[in-house]
Amino acid sequence: MADILNVEGLETQFRTREGIVHAVNGVSFNLKEGETLGIVGESGCGKSVSVMSMLRLIPCPPGEIVAGKAIFQGNDLLKMTDDEIRKVRGSQIGMVFQDPMTFFNPVLTIGQQVSEPLEVHTGMNKKMAYERAAKVLEMVGIPRAADRLDDYPHQFSGGMRQRVMIAMALISNPQLLIADEPTTALDVTIQAQIVELVQRLRQELGMAIIWITHDLGIIAGLAKRVAVMYGGCIVEEAEVKELYVNPMHPYTRGLLGSLPRMDETEHRRLVSIDGMPPILMEKPRSCPFLSRCTYAVDRCKMENPGLRDLTPDHKVACWVDPNTGREH
Ligand SMILES: Nc1ncnc2c1ncn2[C@@H]1O[C@H](COP(=O)(O)OP(=O)(O)OP(=O)(O)O)[C@@H](O)[C@H]1O
Ligand SMILES: [Mg+2]
Repeated sequence: MADILNVEGLETQFRTREGIVHAVNGVSFNLKEGETLGIVGESGCGKSVSVMSMLRLIPCPPGEIVAGKAIFQGNDLLKMTDDEIRKVRGSQIGMVFQDPMTFFNPVLTIGQQVSEPLEVHTGMNKKMAYERAAKVLEMVGIPRAADRLDDYPHQFSGGMRQRVMIAMALISNPQLLIADEPTTALDVTIQAQIVELVQRLRQELGMAIIWITHDLGIIAGLAKRVAVMYGGCIVEEAEVKELYVNPMHPYTRGLLGSLPRMDETEHRRLVSIDGMPPILMEKPRSCPFLSRCTYAVDRCKMENPGLRDLTPDHKVACWVDPNTGREH
């Protein structure tokens, strides 16, 4: 399978009154057509800013993408004009966000909001766009979808709004779906239904997916590979099974709380670990995890270990082998 997305050395900063916040510090990863990548990491580690930067949805100012590439099907998203990137967002890349209520316009009907991108991007007339909207809403499991097009967002339950948001992201058959914690606010049963829905749609439509979450059960159910972020960097990346069985970054070990078995990860939240998250007011020169790490050696204070291949399918940014306590 060919790569659909190559992100290389992405760096994003925010200018604030207190100084520059180094939110994303050289994130690189790739994604193949039809593949699902999970991204995990504690609050503030730069997950949302990474994907928002790629989609050019960072408010500038105060934000600025200062380095990197995000090559999507051969073109750099970071170099596109505003018009070009808007077209990509409306058609080739679909997005689902955490909070559907801030996403929807409360004074427009669901039908208006779901059909609008079709009218804008494909030139469909209103009648055709509404028909397609009803079909897509049905596909994501909205009962009596055609009858509900004239309802407003508040007339849908949280889980249903989430489904509508997924429908909107998928309406133009995107090759890539980016979902930023879309199930966090939902109860466990609805979460499971949404995950099942996405699995089914992925099979039917074949899109690649980037799924950001705190929930290891969701990652195990959906993703083939997972990237762990810390302090604006990816600190470990591996296939899900490999990461669960053989986590090699001390932070990942902390997150997993000793070594969980795959069958124990169902809806298990990431455990919180001791110490404070890194302050991002300075670009990390040492390892960003240094102050919380129980494995640290002198080298960790002097050099930020970049992500490197441990095996062809397992990357880690750490100087120390946590199994032996010795430097790699
Ligand atoms: N508009 C902004 N102005 C200043 N700093 C910002 C802005 N947006 C994000 N940041 C900072 O960038 C860093 C990364 O934030 P980000 O939203 O990517 O975290 P996250 O990993 O998505 O966390 P969460 O799990 O809570 O969603 C944080 O320190 C955050 O405070
Ligand atoms: Mg976020």
